[in-house]
Amino acid sequence: MILILLGAPGAGKGTQAEKIKVEYNLLHLSTGDLLRAAVADGTELGKLAKDYMNAGKLVPDDVILGIIRDFMKENTGKGVLFDGFPRTVMQAGGLDEILRDEKVRALSLEVDDEQVIKRLSARRVCRECGKVYNPALGINPPKENACECGGEIYQRDDDHAETIANRLKVYHDQTEPVIEYYRGKSQLLIVNGTGTPDEVFGRIREALV
Ligand code: AP5
Ligand code: MG
Repeated sequence: MILILLGAPGAGKGTQAEKIKVEYNLLHLSTGDLLRAAVADGTELGKLAKDYMNAGKLVPDDVILGIIRDFMKENTGKGVLFDGFPRTVMQAGGLDEILRDEKVRALSLEVDDEQVIKRLSARRVCRECGKVYNPALGINPPKENACECGGEIYQRDDDHAETIANRLKVYHDQTEPVIEYYRGKSQLLIVNGTGTPDEVFGRIREALV
């Protein structure tokens, strides 16, 4: 199965992906996580992506499609969960060319903008292990700002107010048309992304039967 998780920034794609990949035994590819790792490592890809990401803009389609093509070549025949990809209709068409006849389902997590802004402004992440702290979920960062693994807890560079607003605008302008793309191909599932992470996951399981 190829499963695509669509949804606004902060809709809970990463949170749900952790649960889905275990339950359905899928490889998880988050293009955002991959790009952040490239920025942290200072690779050529990271140098190219950094300014786009910090401005809340999308990294160019050809760069992203190159990454996906390489990933699918290395993982032919395996079930994959895409998180944060495709984000433009051009990327969705490119993925279809790469996959050809494989069975694809796209699941859109729906959360309103106000909820997204609250979630993202509160999010803190460990630089080492990636653990997400969010007081809104009762997961508070420890006092010394050190993660349980010892890593530094920080705020993502794109989780500041102005960049969140840009990411939302880019989502509505460029990524929402991707939802229509999959609706047109009868591959779309819609899931309400509000409520606790477990409640949302319960809805995802029902949608995927
Ligand atoms: P990316 O990393 O994909 O970020 P995003 O889509 O903006 O989404 P987030 O990762 O912020 O949110 P999420 O939906 O994963 O939610 P999460 O589970 O973390 O992309 C970053 C950038 O990389 C892009 O802006 C772009 O520049 C570039 N990029 C990436 N892919 C690209 C592509 N394909 N093409 C071009 N450019 C690309 O949850 C968010 C917060 O909410 C957390 O704190 C969490 O604890 C909390 N939360 C989650 N679920 C709940 C719940 N049910 N109730 C309350 N709180 C919750
Ligand atoms: Mg994410």
